[in-house]
Parts: sequence; structure tokens; C-alpha cells
Amino acid sequence: MATATRKKPAARKTAAGKSPARKSTARKTGGRASSRAAPGDAIAMLKADHKKVSALFDQFEKTRSPAKKKEIVATICQELTVHTTLEEEIFYPEVKAAMKDKELVPEAKVEHASVKDLIAQVEGREPDGEDYDAKVKVMGEFVKHHVKEEQNEMFPKAKKTRLDFVALGERMTQRKQELMASA
Ligand SMILES: [Fe+2]
Ligand SMILES: [Fe+2]
Repeated sequence: MATATRKKPAARKTAAGKSPARKSTARKTGGRASSRAAPGDAIAMLKADHKKVSALFDQFEKTRSPAKKKEIVATICQELTVHTTLEEEIFYPEVKAAMKDKELVPEAKVEHASVKDLIAQVEGREPDGEDYDAKVKVMGEFVKHHVKEEQNEMFPKAKKTRLDFVALGERMTQRKQELMASA
């Protein structure tokens, strides 16, 4: 959703088609292997991840081949693991403090725990039938619900604070590169 709105001079097109860095804060973070994590607004970055994962769940639904299913699920698990880590390590603590929040972030963390539980149940497993498919489907539904709450409640509230989302995005981009490299 975030992507279509900002179409400034695309300094670099990212793999996930996410919005280009809003300000070219002349940092070198966007170089080399970082094609999937251009520096930019933290919220745009998270929304781009949401979009990517949602497309992967849609792809899973349409796939019959077990090998392809396994491949899609491996990507989903990696993307979600990195994404939830970024939120829990960097984004959530910052917005929680800025919003003086006692509800949205704690609830989001509980939801992450449920998603991680499902990740553990399918990651690396063979797609061996209806139970596997059901777990992936439920995971998709959990994620969809969670994303809706983030995008409809948490992010709009966070945007009203004075947080520097560009700086936050830079921190997250850097951390994302580390996490992807070790994933
Ligand atoms: Fe998220
Ligand atoms: Fe989240």
C-alpha cells in the first residue's frame, strides 16, 4: 500500500519494489548487497515487508507442487523472522516510548509469539498434506490480522509523534542486512 504513493526520483529500484529513499541522506547503506533494504522511512520499510509477505501467502495458496510450497514457506519464515526481530528490537521500543503506549505494542508482541510458534511448526518440514497447508493458512490469517492492526492503528499513531522515521529506517536497514546475512 505504501509503495504506490511515493514515486520520487528512484535512486535505486529495490527488489521488493519498495519506495525509494525519501531523502538521499547520503549514506552508503544502500550499496552493494542491500538491494532488498534501501534506506528509508521505517514505516515504508515495514509496509513493504508486509506487502511482500502477503504476496507470498497468496502464492502459496495457488501452488500445488510440494517443492514449490516448501520454497515459498522457507522465504515466508525467513522474511517474518527478520521482520519481527526488527520490530521487536528497534521499532516497537521506539514507538512504545514515543506514544507512551501500554497496549498496542504489548499486544503486537503477543501476536508475534503466535506467529513464531507456527513458524516453528512448518519451517524446514516437508509439505506433507493438509495439516501443513492448514498451518500455513492459519499463519497467513494471523499475519494479515496483525498487519492490519499495525497499519491501521499503530503506524498512524506513531506518525503523530516526533520520532525520526528516516533515522529509524537507517538503523533498521543496517540491522536487516545483518539479519539477512545470518539467516
Ligand atoms: Fe509488521
Ligand atoms: Fe509486527
